[in-house]
Amino acid sequence: RKRLTITNMKKMKQDRNAISVLTAYDYPSAKLAEEAGIDVILVGDSLGNVVLGYDTTIPVTIDDIVYHTRAVARGAQQTFIVADMPFMTYGIGREATLRNAARIMQEGGAQAVKLEGGSDMASDVAALVKAGIPVMGHIGLTPQSVHQLGGYKVQGKLDMEAERLMNDAKALEEAGAFSLVLELVTEPLATLISDSLAIPVIGIGAGRGCDGQVLVYHDILQYASPYFEKKFVKTYADIGSTIRNAIEAYVNDVKQGAFPGEDHVFSAQPAVFGPLYG
Ligand code: KIV
Ligand code: NA
Repeated sequence: RKRLTITNMKKMKQDRNAISVLTAYDYPSAKLAEEAGIDVILVGDSLGNVVLGYDTTIPVTIDDIVYHTRAVARGAQQTFIVADMPFMTYGIGREATLRNAARIMQEGGAQAVKLEGGSDMASDVAALVKAGIPVMGHIGLTPQSVHQLGGYKVQGKLDMEAERLMNDAKALEEAGAFSLVLELVTEPLATLISDSLAIPVIGIGAGRGCDGQVLVYHDILQYASPYFEKKFVKTYADIGSTIRNAIEAYVNDVKQGAFPGEDHVFSAQPAVFGPLYG
C-alpha cells in the first residue's frame, strides 16, 4: 500500500471518507497499526503519560519525540506519520521553532508536525509551511496548557469560547495547516467547525461531525494507560490483562520448575566432556 499524502487527506474529507488516526510510540505499535490499516499515525506527546509515566505532557522533550518517532518510522514505512512538537519547542522564536520541527522530520522521519494553539500560533504555522513542513493544528483542550486551562475539561461550551475556537480554526487553515485536531469540544461546535473548513478536522472527544477520529493506542487497548474516566474513549481490547496474566503464568512456571520444559532445552553433549557428570 502507499503512504497517504496531505492532498489525499483533503480529498478524503471532500468524499466524506473518514480519516482514522491512532497514536503509536515505538516499532511494534507502529507496525501493528500499519498492518491494521490505519490512515495516519500520530507520535503524540501523550507518550509522556502512557509510555514514560508522567502526569502531564509538559516534561516531554524534543529528544523524546525524535527518539520515539524514529522507532515508529521504522515500524510503519507506508503510513503518514505526524509527530507532536513538545511544550516550549515552538512559539519561542522563528529559528528555534524551525530547527525543532526540522529535527522531527530529518532525525525522526515524520512527514508532518503537530502543535497546539490557534491564532497565537498562526505565524509559526505559516513559517513552518513556507519552509516545506506540513503542520497539523490542535485546538480545544490543549494538554500542554493544562495548568493555564485549569484542568482537563470540555471546551467551547460558552459562546465566547466557541467563537474563539472557530476563529482559531480559521486562522490555522489560513496559515496553511493541512489539518487540525479538535480535542474535547462539544459535538455541535466541532461539527460546525468541520463544516466551515476545507481542511480535515480530526476529533478526539469532539463527536460524530468531524472528518476523522484520533485516539491513544494505550487507551483503546487498555494497555496500562493511566486510569481516569474518559467518556470519549472506546476500548477494543484488554491487552493489559492479557499481558499481566501471561507474565503471571511465566512467573509461576519458573517458580514451579515448569519452564524450561523438554522442548526448550539444548541437550546435545560435547563428546570431550564424556557422559554428563562423567
Ligand atoms: O498527544 C496525543 O496523543 C494527541 C492526540 C490525543 C490528539 O495530541
Ligand atoms: Na499531543
